[in-house]
Amino acid sequence: MSTAALVLAAGRGERLGAGLPKALVSLAGVPLVVRAVEAIAAVPEIERVVPVVPPGELARFAALLSGVAGAHKLAPPVEGGRERQDSVRAGLASLADDTAWVAVHDAARALVRGADVSRVIAAARRHGAALLAVPLRDTMKRVRDGRVLETPPRAECWAAQTPQVFAARLLREALAKADAEGFLATDDAQLVERLGAPVAVVEGEVGNLKITTPEDLAAAEVLLRARGERAA
Ligand code: CTP
Ligand code: MG
Repeated sequence: MSTAALVLAAGRGERLGAGLPKALVSLAGVPLVVRAVEAIAAVPEIERVVPVVPPGELARFAALLSGVAGAHKLAPPVEGGRERQDSVRAGLASLADDTAWVAVHDAARALVRGADVSRVIAAARRHGAALLAVPLRDTMKRVRDGRVLETPPRAECWAAQTPQVFAARLLREALAKADAEGFLATDDAQLVERLGAPVAVVEGEVGNLKITTPEDLAAAEVLLRARGERAA
């Protein structure tokens, strides 16, 4: 029963606006993709780690990742695509046929902790699919054209994170259905939900933030310092 992880690093990072692919941006001296790949490769249940990188960047990422901790688990980088879902498809297509479980992780969540990854893998093995998420602190409003449509009960609102872990066969089927229907999701669990399959929720940590804006990068530096890890 082999378990592989896709580390999605093919985004342009427009909201961060660093002038280079977000995965290459340094957090306390270490590029986000290096931090994310090392965190995922350190998880004992994960045997193979596939970095999915921006088109045209294979050589640069391969060189950057050659010396990471856990490099023996690392597959050569795969080129991603225009949309995140295209990158997932490319990563999934590169996996060996005997891959039973796939963890999909955003390189932008460079602070993920191994113990949380292990917990979500265990939940996926029980239920077929699982994701890390945190309960929302704010009340959520569905809004259209500047007006509130509805207020979902806050106790039922969680913010989805990654990794999201799936039986490989389930994720392949879910992606094929979405592609056939021209459906573009903002996370992978949504594709599996559309099959009517159960997706388990594992409570994660707010610190597993997605670095999206310069403010997030600054917050991540503070979190790292508080953890006492590899501050520059
Ligand atoms: N991603 C990807 N392929 C894409 C788009 C996104 O692999 N075509 C990855 C990003 O590299 C990131 C994760 O998906 O690790 C989450 O995406 P996001 O935070 O939106 O990153 P970017 O798309 O790079 O940022 P932006 O939307 O600001 O351009
Ligand atoms: Mg994006």
